[in-house]
Amino acid sequence: MSQSLKGKTALVTGGSRGIGRGIAERLAKGGATVALTYNAGKAGADETVAAIEASGGKAFALRADLADAGAIPALFDRLDRELVDRKGNAALDILVNNAGNAGWGSLGDATPDGWDKMFAVHARAPFFMVQSALGRLRDGGRIINVSSAAGTRAMAAVPIYSMAKAAINNLTHALAIELGPRGITVNTVAPGWVRTDMNAAVRENADMVTAIEADTALGRFGETSDIAAVVAFLASDEGRWITAQVIEASGVSAKSSGQHSSRKPDRTFNIGQGGAHALRATRDTTGRSLTVSAQLSDQEIARRQISDLGIL
Ligand SMILES: NC(=O)c1ccc[n+]([C@@H]2O[C@H](COP(=O)([O-])OP(=O)(O)OC[C@H]3O[C@@H](n4cnc5c(N)ncnc54)[C@H](OP(=O)(O)O)[C@@H]3O)[C@@H](O)[C@H]2O)c1
Repeated sequence: MSQSLKGKTALVTGGSRGIGRGIAERLAKGGATVALTYNAGKAGADETVAAIEASGGKAFALRADLADAGAIPALFDRLDRELVDRKGNAALDILVNNAGNAGWGSLGDATPDGWDKMFAVHARAPFFMVQSALGRLRDGGRIINVSSAAGTRAMAAVPIYSMAKAAINNLTHALAIELGPRGITVNTVAPGWVRTDMNAAVRENADMVTAIEADTALGRFGETSDIAAVVAFLASDEGRWITAQVIEASGVSAKSSGQHSSRKPDRTFNIGQGGAHALRATRDTTGRSLTVSAQLSDQEIARRQISDLGIL
């Protein structure tokens, strides 16, 4: 792999596992020194750093709970110190806003607290990450957000998550206009189903996997390397003329592309648990069009009722 990012520095949020780990490894392979953040997963972050170093790359990990906007300036102070120690200055070339928690939950189950938490991580944190990064980003730098296909085609099973991702898509355009004069490009990569912890419960159901793969034009789940490759391209000099774009990297859902007119439900099956939610999928008669829904489990409904009565 070419060392097209040699000498560059990158900050990747949520680099301890999943897509963020894939991005961190890919940028490090390209020659960048990568700072990756984690929240609860120190072991995963250490493992990612070790894997990068074992391949001859340079990386280090920093902890920050991005649900807390107040943690962001402190994160950048620690980043400055690490970069000055390692490279002699604190300049940043690439910021990747990737960190995110799973968003299962229907409209009926939503609470203001859950809504705030989802927006805090998926929309507020990237905004204030950019604000803190601005003074450190070199002219000609890159900001790359990780959104979701659900940001443009909302999923009923994840309405708040879909809204938060739409907010990032929108912010991408505003930032690109503001930062264009400095040669900084701002883009968003929007994955579809990618094989990570975020949908591990979904993938435990073989029927569900078959249905998702059948609904995907390219016929499989995405891998973290599929998303990392797009991010690496945008981060490289080759991506210099692309800005303000939301680039879907999903293998494309046939249903969402309007390829199937029959929406008649054929079969509904339980997928598993997503946090407190029971996940269900309904497949139409074509066997390809798929709708995922999330409902609070009976146990969780009972727990909340008891809590409302003041017993818990
Ligand atoms: N997987 C998919 O199918 C898919 C599809 C579309 C979009 N995406 C988006 O891709 C991004 C990465 O998702 P993923 O599938 O790789 O998820 P993942 O495997 O669950 O990893 C989530 C990452 O985000 C970090 N994180 C979560 N909450 C955080 C918080 N409050 N503060 C700081 N870091 C936090 C985690 O840190 P810890 O390990 O320390 O907890 C972890 O590094 C997300 O923005 C997600 O919305 C994923």
